[in-house]
Amino acid sequence: MKVIYFSFTGNVRRFIKRAEITDALEITQSNCTEVINEPFIIVTGTIGFGEVPNPVQSFLEVNHQNLVGVAASGNRNWGQNFAKAGRTISEQYNVPLLMKFELHGTNNDVIEFKNKVGNLNENHGREKVQSY
Ligand SMILES: Cc1cc2nc3c(=O)[nH]c(=O)nc-3n(C[C@H](O)[C@H](O)[C@H](O)COP(=O)(O)O)c2cc1C
Repeated sequence: MKVIYFSFTGNVRRFIKRAEITDALEITQSNCTEVINEPFIIVTGTIGFGEVPNPVQSFLEVNHQNLVGVAASGNRNWGQNFAKAGRTISEQYNVPLLMKFELHGTNNDVIEFKNKVGNLNENHGREKVQSY
């Protein structure tokens, strides 16, 4: 499964590197309206007061049909708004919130994420087979 991420200060980028995701794509200001024709998971930090970063919003406006799940980073210092971008995307596009993690994540967070991406791969394959 493709993992598409946005990172404004580098935490999510570091998390994705540690998870050794082979099919990863970083959203930038210049590619954030590109069309992606395959299923993907999005991983993003949270900005403002619990907001989804603008490039991620733009990207999802164009590509939400292929969105399979979301994971979000944040900082617990933000209290109720901790990693709220994840909840917002999950509710707006009706996809599972796979996990929230703090900053660049713990080793356990990385393992959990890899497992969840693996499970989504399996389930997605099965859905395709069952639809015949
Ligand atoms: C201006 C600014 C606003 C932020 N607002 C929030 C917030 O509302 N909720 C939250 O959980 N984290 C917030 N954070 C923390 C980031 O989401 C967190 O550091 C995250 O790991 C950033 O990921 P990135 O480095 O990949 O961009 C904020 C950080 C900055 C710099």
